[in-house]
Amino acid sequence: MPHYILGIESSCDDTSASVLCDTTILSNVIAGQKVHSEYGGVVPELASRAHQQNIIPVIDTALKRAKINKNQLSAIAYTNGPGLLGSLLVGSSFAKAMAYCLNVPLIEVDHLQAHVLAIFADKPDTQLSKPQFPFLCLTVSGGHTQLLKVNDYFDMEFLGGTIDDAAGEAFDKAAKILGLPYPGGPVIDKLAKEGDPNKFKFAIAHLTGLQYSFSGLKTSFLYFVRDQLKENECFIEENIHDLAASVQHAIILSLIHKMKEAFKLYDCKDIVLAGGVSANSGLRNAMRELTDQYHRNLHLPSLELTTDNAAMIAVCGYFKYLKNEHSSISATPYTSARNI
Ligand code: KG4
Ligand code: ZN
Repeated sequence: MPHYILGIESSCDDTSASVLCDTTILSNVIAGQKVHSEYGGVVPELASRAHQQNIIPVIDTALKRAKINKNQLSAIAYTNGPGLLGSLLVGSSFAKAMAYCLNVPLIEVDHLQAHVLAIFADKPDTQLSKPQFPFLCLTVSGGHTQLLKVNDYFDMEFLGGTIDDAAGEAFDKAAKILGLPYPGGPVIDKLAKEGDPNKFKFAIAHLTGLQYSFSGLKTSFLYFVRDQLKENECFIEENIHDLAASVQHAIILSLIHKMKEAFKLYDCKDIVLAGGVSANSGLRNAMRELTDQYHRNLHLPSLELTTDNAAMIAVCGYFKYLKNEHSSISATPYTSARNI
């Protein structure tokens, strides 16, 4: 018998709902929030208000696109953390009320686990090859940068992470310095395609082990641009493509450098990239080259599953549903990453 899982995601600035039939995505509706673009980052209070406005139409559309009735749902999975508290409360309260009314299991999902497990969700027409356990997963998003050894769906070993900014934050901050809108990652990615990645050099941190750091890179980028603007006030406009390509190159180099270190320590054959920054075309290409060179199999999520979306919440919920892991109506959202 097929299981229909509704996933609800509201941890940051995207309100999303998705219906899965087992691991097949029947719908994945994402309402972004344009309101933050002029602030150069997410404004938490504005995010919660936008979630309130979006949540009912988004869930309604997800059910309609999936062509199923709410009474056919087997369970409701929702993001319980980490994220912004006000944003999480909107999704979690809605999920609890809906599960209670429909008398179906409520399943809490960790946002970071969901990014990792997104690779197991399939579009109806495309079945990508699946990684075999154990695999290495690099999650690079706006809030997190972490390398995990994934032994099983819910057995993930933390190998290393960032000691300051996340990779996505580095993209967003660089974009802000260049006067580009938030989120800056996709804009830099696009501009970088026509730029020279070796035109400008920025500081890359060399920490021991599998730790990452991006704050030095951000500062070196900020000072460089500031100094150049003193000489030429049109410096950014005249060099925008090369600046984007060079800062993107520096971020990718530091991620690739640590991946090589991880390959020396762990012989997992399968490698997964996850999180919003895994949409970056330069990073995807660099990871393809690296994994070819080291004879590893790279698994990349489809682009719509890289940034925040509810299909990844639903697929994570599905695997918990199979294990009968239900949540209590009194589960409270959490804001910081938990050990997963
Ligand atoms: O996973 P995500 O949607 O949210 C978090 O859980 O943080 O990631 C959002 C981050 C933002 O920092 C955004 O700039 C970055 O992912 N991002 C990209 C690209 N698309 C999204 N960064 C670089 N290149 C992209 N194409
Ligand atoms: Zn995320």
